[in-house]
Amino acid sequence: MAVLPILKMGAPLLLQIAQPVQQFDTPELHTLVADMLDTMKAHNGAGLAAPQIGISLQLVIFGGFKSPRYPDAEEIPFTVLLNPTLLPLNDNTNNGWEGCLSVPGMRGLVPRYTQLRYQGFDQYGRVIDRTVSDFHARVVQHEVDHLDGILYPMRIKDMRQFGFIESLFPGQQISDD
Ligand code: NI
Repeated sequence: MAVLPILKMGAPLLLQIAQPVQQFDTPELHTLVADMLDTMKAHNGAGLAAPQIGISLQLVIFGGFKSPRYPDAEEIPFTVLLNPTLLPLNDNTNNGWEGCLSVPGMRGLVPRYTQLRYQGFDQYGRVIDRTVSDFHARVVQHEVDHLDGILYPMRIKDMRQFGFIESLFPGQQISDD
């Protein structure tokens, strides 16, 4: 168990396409998941993708506790998702504020599909197949984007809605990572 350093925007690995996980239920994979969970919790993140800790694998974790960074959001079950595919169920999108542990201190307004189905596997190789909406759908899209080398600032439509937390939300107590 360990809290690992997080790569920040500008690191080339964050822009790479991650490799599929080939073997499930291995000691190495379980250690990696445990370390990612420690790291996500230490930073109060809503999710974390393996490339953010320098591992180019199609592995993301998210949910499981009420993040003080997103106090109004619904709770999402703790999920370990490998080799994911996303399927939007329609063209509906909405805008929401996002942050990222790889872009500390900032927030941006990002359009995301509001309803989607996602499929993949957990660390034991068990199938995950869920239809979700709203914040859950947003978090999955943000995390899976990391596996395609996409960071949320690349999704912002109006760059005036991107900035430093203390400037966007003066006087509010929001964690800066
Ligand atoms: Ni992120």
